[in-house]
Amino acid sequence: MTKTCSSIVAGKITDDDRGGRMASTNPARLTDLVADVALGDASTVLEACRVAKAAQPAWANVPAPVRGRVIAEIGRLVEANAESLARLVTREVGKPYAEALGEVQEIVDTCDFFLGEGRRLYGDTVPSEMHDKALFTFRMPVGTLAVITAGNFPVAVPSWYLVPALLCGNTVVWKPAEYSAAVATALYELFAAGGLPEGTLNLVLSDGAATFTGLELALSEHAIDKVGFTGSSTVGSLIGELAGRHLQSACLELGGKNPMVIMPDADVELAVEGALFSGFGTAGQRCTSLGTAIVHESLHDGFLSRLVERLEGAAIGDPNAPVLYGPMLDGRFADRFETYLADLIEPHHTLLGSNATGRITSAKARTGFVGDPDEGIFCHPTIVDGVRLDDEIARTETFGPMIGVASFSGFDEAMALSNCSGFGLSAAIYTSSPAAVFMFRQRISAGMISVNNSTSGAEAHLPFGGNGRSGNGSRQSGKWVLDQMTRWQSMNWDYSGHLQKAQMDTDAVKADRGFRLED
Ligand code: UN1
Repeated sequence: MTKTCSSIVAGKITDDDRGGRMASTNPARLTDLVADVALGDASTVLEACRVAKAAQPAWANVPAPVRGRVIAEIGRLVEANAESLARLVTREVGKPYAEALGEVQEIVDTCDFFLGEGRRLYGDTVPSEMHDKALFTFRMPVGTLAVITAGNFPVAVPSWYLVPALLCGNTVVWKPAEYSAAVATALYELFAAGGLPEGTLNLVLSDGAATFTGLELALSEHAIDKVGFTGSSTVGSLIGELAGRHLQSACLELGGKNPMVIMPDADVELAVEGALFSGFGTAGQRCTSLGTAIVHESLHDGFLSRLVERLEGAAIGDPNAPVLYGPMLDGRFADRFETYLADLIEPHHTLLGSNATGRITSAKARTGFVGDPDEGIFCHPTIVDGVRLDDEIARTETFGPMIGVASFSGFDEAMALSNCSGFGLSAAIYTSSPAAVFMFRQRISAGMISVNNSTSGAEAHLPFGGNGRSGNGSRQSGKWVLDQMTRWQSMNWDYSGHLQKAQMDTDAVKADRGFRLED
């Protein structure tokens, strides 16, 4: 069945196609038209921002515990609809069904965490330096958020923004990836059914350029107070720059070139398992995907041959079957992946992992492929062995089923390879040495570190975010995201009945500074 999707503003389906129309197709079976998508333009974005701005004071006025109950209802609704939402994720972006179910669970986990925050949102009582005076802090909603998300995690990552933003009393304009429009509409419907007042959450379907222009207009008239963006570092820096011009700091979750260091005392089989999942799961299209496995020279050959064996034997194809990975999210990612293969592979590299590279087709078949590769957009997995510190591939996020393998002899060399990309999202170390873990933790640039675990698979209540080219220091999830969604307000209350001046009208302390104990 083909859905019709358009922007939803103030609770109304707009049918607005001022930005044109596009087809959202199933990347595993291109003849399956998932949605006919009406795209808005910059004025759609601006209108949605104005609506959200107007709805914000009333939503902030709803007591936080009641907002928490709305979040609880949303969580229960997502749980009750988990299978059909996961099926739609699989159909529209090609994520294998088991992973899609896991992704939906991440929304439920996020709601479970934040429903109780409605009864906390704690502020502090702070002692004053004067008599008869009390000091307090309050968390205030930031206001209206524009949230722009990618399609590789089309429901989990949006929920990391929407759930805490709404809980904290903000209203939201959400612009998902156009190629996941049907999934975004379904998630919007679940949120709306949870009891959000009209205009509190608005869905805008538009392309990147229209969104950027609309955002610029909305920021200029103060209709947006905060921007959240998950996507590429290139677009992230444009958004950060735009927000900065309006004296705002955006919440930016950008790319990664995530290293995995395999120390001489590592459990190799465990590391192979981790490399397979984080390098090739979701066809390498996670921001936390493994970039380069950095293997001690004593283990390099054993690790590589075992990984190649596992990868060559892995099922790839139909995402409704138990496969390692399914199709690329959308044609544009396959095209870019092929460009990386053409540009980044150097003569000193050895390519392993499949019987061919690039697109899988019946003419360039993959042994053991599940289904018919010509029906969708599938890519061969590639292991690039022999990666060196100065290689372009060591610092380029390839966002596809490809990992590099490098070898090292000393720890300094492993750290140089791990930090050379300038990204700093996620990093893993496999070792049985606590000293190595803590040395790695101290020297790695990443915001998230896994020990004897893959670079992907963050839990929904630990801080998520990166450094360098991976973001601007913002953190999502758990209690840490509250600092993105609220601003601190301080209040002092003087009940002495006269003006007491801070720093001046304080009690004097009578200390005898010359006092010494007698020996
Ligand atoms: C992303 O790739 O944008 O840690 C988010 C993970 C997921 C989230 C990834 N839970 O792999």
